Amino acid sequence: MSTNTATNASTDTAIYQRRESEARSYCRRFPTAFVRASGAIMTDAEGRDYIDFLAGCSSLNYGHNDPDMKSALVEHVMSDGVAHGLDMHTDAKGAFLQTFERLILEPRGMDHRMMFTGPTGANAVEAALKLARKATGRTNVIAFTTGFHGVTLGALAATGNLYNRGGAGQQLGGVTRMPFDGALGPDIDTAEVLATMLDEPSSGIEPPAAIIFETVQGEGGLNPASPKWVKRVAEIARQHGALLIIDDIQAGIGRTGGFFSFDDMEVQPDIITMAKSLSGLGLPFAAVLVKPEYDVFKPAEHNGTFRGNNHAMVTARVALEKFWSDDTFLNSIDERARYLESRLNRIAERVPGSNIKGRGMFLGVDVGSGELADKIVTQCFKDGLIIETSGSRGQVVKILAPLTIDQDTFARGLDIVEQAVAKVTEQEAVTA
Ligand SMILES: Cc1ncc(COP(=O)(O)O)c(C=O)c1O
Repeated sequence: MSTNTATNASTDTAIYQRRESEARSYCRRFPTAFVRASGAIMTDAEGRDYIDFLAGCSSLNYGHNDPDMKSALVEHVMSDGVAHGLDMHTDAKGAFLQTFERLILEPRGMDHRMMFTGPTGANAVEAALKLARKATGRTNVIAFTTGFHGVTLGALAATGNLYNRGGAGQQLGGVTRMPFDGALGPDIDTAEVLATMLDEPSSGIEPPAAIIFETVQGEGGLNPASPKWVKRVAEIARQHGALLIIDDIQAGIGRTGGFFSFDDMEVQPDIITMAKSLSGLGLPFAAVLVKPEYDVFKPAEHNGTFRGNNHAMVTARVALEKFWSDDTFLNSIDERARYLESRLNRIAERVPGSNIKGRGMFLGVDVGSGELADKIVTQCFKDGLIIETSGSRGQVVKILAPLTIDQDTFARGLDIVEQAVAKVTEQEAVTA
């Protein structure tokens, strides 16, 4: 196909109305056709640059098309390296596992094994839930209000969002919902609510196979769990013979600071789900980390054709070597996070009653209403910024900038958010 044909096709938006399913979503919020992406910038077919504060919903924590990952991948492809390997041993897979062991597992004293699942986050969550059920012989799972774990049926049962759950077309079972940290207000410790419910033999809650949560709920509105809550829930899980599953799909890989979102929380989850930024380059790749004693699937009992994306293994290895060999990246995330927080404080001052939510580079402003947040992100897009909302009512303007974003681009993006908030709140004041 010539470049011309490709460009014409990308600007013909009628094809999407005609032929793409109604289930499409982000393209409605960002109605243009993108043709290139580099670092924190996406460029559309008209040649207009947009700053990307969505970063593939945190699948692009290292930005678009990192040059080192890209060249390693090109070299692998051009030398006829294995692309699809089922779960066969390959040089790419061996090198990735060795690097993961050396840079991530060993320094943390983790003896976890890596189970390659199908390539999406939901695939990893499904595997995690099944493993926990098989390992404990129990079926019930505790999940939390406003948690999001994906939209396949098992993961959706653990997801709180009513709109997503409405798509199931069948009953979603096997999960008991409990209030997340802070869900009952600042005076009620919901870890103790959970403990009370599980301690009471007649609470009506079946003994759980697992307790699953995100340390910062991404889709649920950037609700952070305190380290104290996380530690207490880990203790409750242990007391009740339930496995602790931390879903690190969105909060992990640097988004909240450390490689794992629970680094420094003194917990070792039995199972950890990983996806999104694991490949580093945005290639589909997911995995479950499981303690050896719970690694209970028999060969091929839980399988899948796309568990051997060797391209993703090549880029994932380069990502680990480049960003996690020492503390340089970690420190730079911390620095950017502090800058982000200071800018968001200023932005929040413009919206009465708003507050900042999240942790690390996983921050947003809760502006109190989904309608207002919608207007702000729509204005941002007009002004050249890709940014989304989250939360049960879509009320949080969520910043998911690449963790590698340069200071100038970061500042320009935040200027756009600040100006959009000013414009929208002024318009609202006039209308009122
Ligand atoms: C915490 C968490 N778990 C699971 C998922 C599902 O991942 P995927 O969309 O790749 O299936 C997501 C997606 O946003 C997520 O944020």
